Amino acid sequence: MERIEWIVDLETGIGLLDAQHMNLVRLINELGEAVEQGRGQTVIDKVMEQLKLYASYHFTSEERLLRKYNYPDLEAHRQEHEEFSDEMEDFSLDLRTGAPDVCSALHDYLRQWFVLHVQETDMRYALFLKEKGEV
Ligand SMILES: [Fe+2]
Ligand SMILES: [Fe+2]
Repeated sequence: MERIEWIVDLETGIGLLDAQHMNLVRLINELGEAVEQGRGQTVIDKVMEQLKLYASYHFTSEERLLRKYNYPDLEAHRQEHEEFSDEMEDFSLDLRTGAPDVCSALHDYLRQWFVLHVQETDMRYALFLKEKGEV
């Protein structure tokens, strides 16, 4: 199971958000390990719950900061967060109904979505927020 390595390409330079992203990476890798080691449903459900809660907490922090400075692309950005949350709800349902291969599909989705979203979408606010004096 491929892990997410924390590399400089994932750093926005905004301390609070980078720290939250690191926690998300830790949870996604934890879920990957649980799947790889064939841990039971209870363990996977628990990590999944933590991930959903933490992702929603992070999105709120990020959106609050962007709203504070009237970030022009906030709506499109918020939409991506929402799509992720909807996808997570679908995965939760699939986990409950025991759809085949759902765990590795979930981990693949998390890994790919996170890396792409941070590198493409989150990175766009990095300079904007720095110019506003956020660190
Ligand atoms: Fe974001
Ligand atoms: Fe983010």
